[in-house]
Amino acid sequence: MKLPRTYYNYISYLGSIIAIIAAFAITFFVIQINFFQTDNVYFDLFAYLVTPGFLVFGLILIPTGMYLKKRKLKKGLPVSDEKLLVINLRDPQTRNAILIFTVVTIFFVIATVIGSYKGFHYTESVEFCGKLCHKVMEPEYVAYQHSPHARVKCAECHVGEGADFYVKSKMSGLRQVYKYILGTYPRNIETPIANLRPARETCEKCHWPQKFYTNKIRSQKYYLADSANTEWDVIMKMRIGADHSALGNTEGIHWHINNDVEITYQADEKRQTIPWVRYFNKSTGKEIVFVEEDTSIHPTVKEVATTEKRMMDCMDCHNRPSHEYFSPPHYVNELFAGNRIDTKVPYLKSAAMEATNDLYTTKDSAFAGINDQMIKYYKEGYPALFSKYEKEIKKAVTAIQEEFSYNTFPYMRVSYKKYPRNIGHFENKGCFRCHDDKHKSSDGKVISKDCNLCHTLIGQGQRDSIKYSPINGTMPFIHPVDIGEDWKTTNCSNCHFEMF
Ligand code: HEC
Ligand code: HEC
Ligand code: HEC
Ligand code: HEC
Ligand code: HEC
Ligand code: HEC
Repeated sequence: MKLPRTYYNYISYLGSIIAIIAAFAITFFVIQINFFQTDNVYFDLFAYLVTPGFLVFGLILIPTGMYLKKRKLKKGLPVSDEKLLVINLRDPQTRNAILIFTVVTIFFVIATVIGSYKGFHYTESVEFCGKLCHKVMEPEYVAYQHSPHARVKCAECHVGEGADFYVKSKMSGLRQVYKYILGTYPRNIETPIANLRPARETCEKCHWPQKFYTNKIRSQKYYLADSANTEWDVIMKMRIGADHSALGNTEGIHWHINNDVEITYQADEKRQTIPWVRYFNKSTGKEIVFVEEDTSIHPTVKEVATTEKRMMDCMDCHNRPSHEYFSPPHYVNELFAGNRIDTKVPYLKSAAMEATNDLYTTKDSAFAGINDQMIKYYKEGYPALFSKYEKEIKKAVTAIQEEFSYNTFPYMRVSYKKYPRNIGHFENKGCFRCHDDKHKSSDGKVISKDCNLCHTLIGQGQRDSIKYSPINGTMPFIHPVDIGEDWKTTNCSNCHFEMF
């Protein structure tokens, strides 16, 4: 077979070899995927991305070599027309060269394939995401390890399946590495993540909306900041789905993700102020638009909202499925409930609230501060209690320091205050961003704030005198301390967000 004279040069030879190997590799992966039904994102990646890259590179080398040679010929420079495929196997030198070349190439190709495969796996691993730039990812990584998703890989929520998102995430990863090296990354990292992969393609791989949850009993213990650390219990039936599972998510909280229901909204970039909400039913065609008209609460739709209309999905309620930073009142209540600190030490809740209230700037100063403040609180305020309960107080200090380190990260300036939790309405507006009785439709309907819409109260009160209602009944809410009717008129988060 005769080829143009210009083809006979080393660059074009190299290109040809690369292209041929790549073509073989592509054939191999494509056969694997299509004939052996290998459902593996890595095979997709190699078949459709990595090896085609090599193929194109090889193919580009061929004309490049030819062009360079042509230029040399034109200028009359000496060129070699040595043909690669004129091989004299009788010559022992050629034989050896071929042998070495073949062995090295095969070794090289195998090593590259294994290497990139391993490398790929590595970049998808929790260690890579959570530990490589430890300083920056510490909050997310630590919270993740204590979350219900501690065994779900970061990449399953943040990248998901398919080569396109893999490439997107690695491109943005490169930008982040660059920022990391320059030290120009933001502290704290901004949320919501604007281009997070839609829940449809991540969460719903494991929790699909057709899988219904019915109701769930939720029992929560609170401890008041009084002398006895009075325990106050709240037991609620959460109406996640319908009362009977056969009804699916036609009612209840997960009604929002019913396949027929589409809720779209406009909000500020933090998604905390939502002046415009549209409900649309895909099967009946019914549409209701709710607008929050009271501009004394916040500016008009035009002023506040980004132009983006967002379709509500799992993440609009479950925005902290894996990185939940709890407030001091919450984790101290949990310490009491788990008997890790002792309710019999008077004023312990109150002392803990004072000690965790400071804005510490480093973890070390936080640990020292918590210790000093707790001890000062008792030594100065209640010296008799200090000598009686010294051991219990010191144990409490250690437990509180530990919880603090899971929930507050001074270096990255991360705490519950920076990342609103959109589920519920206790410390953040959450559901009350829309359900506030103030978003009105043109015919006067509102998005309801009725205390029995999302849950019913089936028990509440002090530990020894809890009042119960029947499981299918409910009772009016009693606020643990007397604040009159304020809890009806003001959002809970107005007082509970920065109360301590
Ligand atoms: C169960 C799914 C899930 C897993 C697993 C997960 N994340 Fe997230 N991550 C989210 C969601 C949802 C958000 C918040 C998105 C928003 O508010 O826009 C988020 C936010 C973040 C943020 C932005 C800052 C913040 O705290 O909101 C970082 C950084 C992050 N994740 C890193 C990680 C790392 C590192 C891992 C693994 C150690 C991980 N994520 C595992 C779902 C997940
Ligand atoms: C790879 C599978 C997987 C993915 C992806 C996943 N989850 Fe989960 N999720 C689980 C498992 C398993 C549990 C149950 C953990 C348990 O029983 O303690 C769970 C539990 C939950 C719970 C209940 C938490 C609790 O306190 O009991 C919620 C809510 C949840 N997931 C939401 C989400 C959201 C939102 C996303 C997407 C951002 C998501 N999950 C992505 C596997 C997954
Ligand atoms: C309108 C807000 C909202 C949306 C949207 C939403 N959820 Fe939920 N989900 C809740 C609430 C509230 C609970 C109950 C939490 C509790 O018990 O404290 C819940 C509970 C759950 C649970 C735990 C069920 C159990 O029995 O413990 C899972 C898992 C879950 N949701 C997954 C999802 C997934 C996946 C999506 C998206 C397909 C989704 N949710 C969409 C509000 C929502
Ligand atoms: C973006 C706005 C928005 C947010 C945020 C929101 N909802 Fe809704 N929700 C709606 C709209 C709109 C309706 C329908 C109102 C109507 O037609 O009466 C609704 C209806 C409901 C219903 C009644 C469903 C039925 O018909 O049985 C429940 C229960 C509910 N929401 C719970 C929640 C919970 C819990 C949260 C917070 C975790 C929440 N919602 C957050 C907009 C929202
Ligand atoms: C739109 C739905 C919705 C409405 C309306 C609603 N709640 Fe809730 N509430 C929730 C959800 C969801 C949670 C659970 C949050 C979580 O999982 O942490 C919750 C939690 C609570 C808690 C436990 C606090 C905590 O998080 O520790 C109390 C108490 C409570 N609600 C009282 C009320 C009262 C009183 C009203 C009426 C003024 C009311 N709720 C109206 C959805 C609602
Ligand atoms: C006017 C301010 C105010 C409003 C509004 C308010 N609270 Fe409170 N709340 C308080 C005070 C003050 C305490 C007492 C704190 C203590 O002693 O630890 C308290 C304590 C609580 C506790 C016990 C907390 C703990 O960790 O010890 C719960 C539960 C509670 N409130 C629920 C609610 C709910 C639910 C709402 C909204 C429906 C609400 N509160 C609205 C002021 C308020």
